[in-house]
Amino acid sequence: MTPSTPLADPQLILRGIHKSYRAASSHSSARPIEALCGVDLAIDAPGFYAIMGRSGSGKSTLLHLLAGLDRPDSGEIWVANRAVHALRESDLVTYRRRDVGIIFQQFNLLPTLDALENTILPGVLDRRPAAALAQRGREILEQLGLADRMHHRPEALSGGEQQRVAIARALLFSPTLILADEPTGNLDSQSSAGLWRLLEETAAQHKIIVLMVTHEAVAAAHCQRTFILKDGRVAGAFESHGLDPTQLAHRSSELARTA
Ligand SMILES: Nc1ncnc2c1ncn2[C@@H]1O[C@H](COP(=O)(O)OP(=O)(O)OP(=O)(O)O)[C@@H](O)[C@H]1O
Ligand SMILES: [Mg+2]
Repeated sequence: MTPSTPLADPQLILRGIHKSYRAASSHSSARPIEALCGVDLAIDAPGFYAIMGRSGSGKSTLLHLLAGLDRPDSGEIWVANRAVHALRESDLVTYRRRDVGIIFQQFNLLPTLDALENTILPGVLDRRPAAALAQRGREILEQLGLADRMHHRPEALSGGEQQRVAIARALLFSPTLILADEPTGNLDSQSSAGLWRLLEETAAQHKIIVLMVTHEAVAAAHCQRTFILKDGRVAGAFESHGLDPTQLAHRSSELARTA
């Protein structure tokens, strides 16, 4: 396998990822904080995947690196045969915009834009033709059941509708990868379950990798595989789809304790 022969299926490989942060301290001698210290992880098929781990284990840091929002100190990040770790800054901007869809806890919708405008914003920033963008935006919003909400601003949308706009925006460019960092942190249990189902369907329908950080075992039970991060490393992984959440929580805390 060489980078010049892309695979039909999207895939994701992390090799020996290290990332440290300089401690926010007045002492210049303060040791840096090692957020990630040798992450190895591979996903070879499209689908819905989870990352779990204690607070501070490096989950958000890992998602930031995958999203191209920051660079690793060392190690390799391959997304669909692209060496993300080696991209020039200008190519990284394009990668962020076109190849990755990101869904944050707060959804990050702009309050002055309506649902359609929020959905197509990455395309506007990418200077795509307006008419084609609007058509694509309308199609995705219709698929997500928001046909009659396109011209509502976020304040006039329910939490569940806002999350679907965030997914629509993440899907605008048919990305290779969707990353979600605790996307249901602010939702009630019914909306949360709806979002997990939607992410699962999105992965299956578009044949892409959806990788979600979660604290909730019931969320990971929607994912085919769950990776456990511990102290900046992958402590283990297991098949998690359809597992009983209590059993799943037990399994992940076992791994986090013993690995
Ligand atoms: N910008 C930063 N500057 C300094 N240290 C940071 C920075 N971001 C994260 N860290 C540190 O790196 C480690 C990993 O943080 P990270 O946010 O990746 O954890 P997490 O697993 O997402 O935790 P949580 O579940 O609480 O969101 C933590 O010790 C954190 O304090
Ligand atoms: Mg986090």
